[in-house]
Parts: sequence; C-alpha cells; structure tokens
Amino acid sequence: MRILIVNGPNLNLLGKRETSIYGGEGFDGFFIGLQDSFFDVDLEYYQSNVEGELVNKLQSAQVDGVLLNAAAYTHTSVALRDAVAAIETPVVEVHISNVLSREEFRHTSLIGGVCVGSISGFGLNSYRLGVTALVDYLNT
Ligand code: DQA
Repeated sequence: MRILIVNGPNLNLLGKRETSIYGGEGFDGFFIGLQDSFFDVDLEYYQSNVEGELVNKLQSAQVDGVLLNAAAYTHTSVALRDAVAAIETPVVEVHISNVLSREEFRHTSLIGGVCVGSISGFGLNSYRLGVTALVDYLNT
C-alpha cells in the first residue's frame, strides 16, 4: 500500500515555526519514525509552499491514498479543493493544531468536504492517526 503525505506552505519550518502551536519537532525526523511504525506501508512525503505545485503533485500521485495538510491553503484554495475532487485517490485532511479552536478564518476548510475525513488537533500525532485511518479505509 502506498500513501503520500502532502504538506503545504510553511510546514517546512516545523520545529522552528510557532513552536507553542506546532511543537518543537521537525517533520523530517518525525517522518522517519512514522515510516518505522508503519513498516508495511510505503510512505512518501512531499512539501511545497507553492499552490500550483501542490495541485500538480495531487494530480500526478501514483498512490493508494493521500494525507493532505494544505496548511493556510486549506482556508483559501479552490484550486486545491478542485484537485482533491478531481482525483480518484482518497484524501484525508490533516491538521497539527485544532483549527476549530483558533482564529475564525481557520474554521472554514475548503478542502474537508471533498476528503474522506479530517483529523485535527493532535500535534504531529494527527499524521499517525491519519495513516491509521487511511489504511483502515483502504482495507474496507
Ligand atoms: C495547519 C493549520 C492552518 O490553519 C495553518 O495555516 C497551518 C497549519 C495545522 O496543521 O494546524 O499552516 O494546517
């Protein structure tokens, strides 16, 4: 089973960026641990700060499922929503922080309605929960 994790803008700064919200751990180290935990899943990782590159990646991904943290584009991008709706591959929306407990502009997700489900608020563990959910979804 192949699962692609797609991270949007500013998530390359995890571990350094607003650590009181997003924690002190960088994604690269976390991703190695995630691969170890899900050794029977082929996990891939892609990050871009550029909206169109994220659209291109979603369109070209040859995987069974996608975990998408579109970051700020979650709240603004019709293009990313349309890309998720356009592909056959199931997508799970992931957020590190609990977006519903933050500023009002983060309460709207343009992405969530075209995903199979959403996980938000568990720190980097949201990705772990997302992989578990996606594996379950793909196996049923
Ligand atoms: C985020 C939440 C977004 O509102 C924010 O713009 C991000 C990260 C999260 O993972 O909690 O960059 O997607």
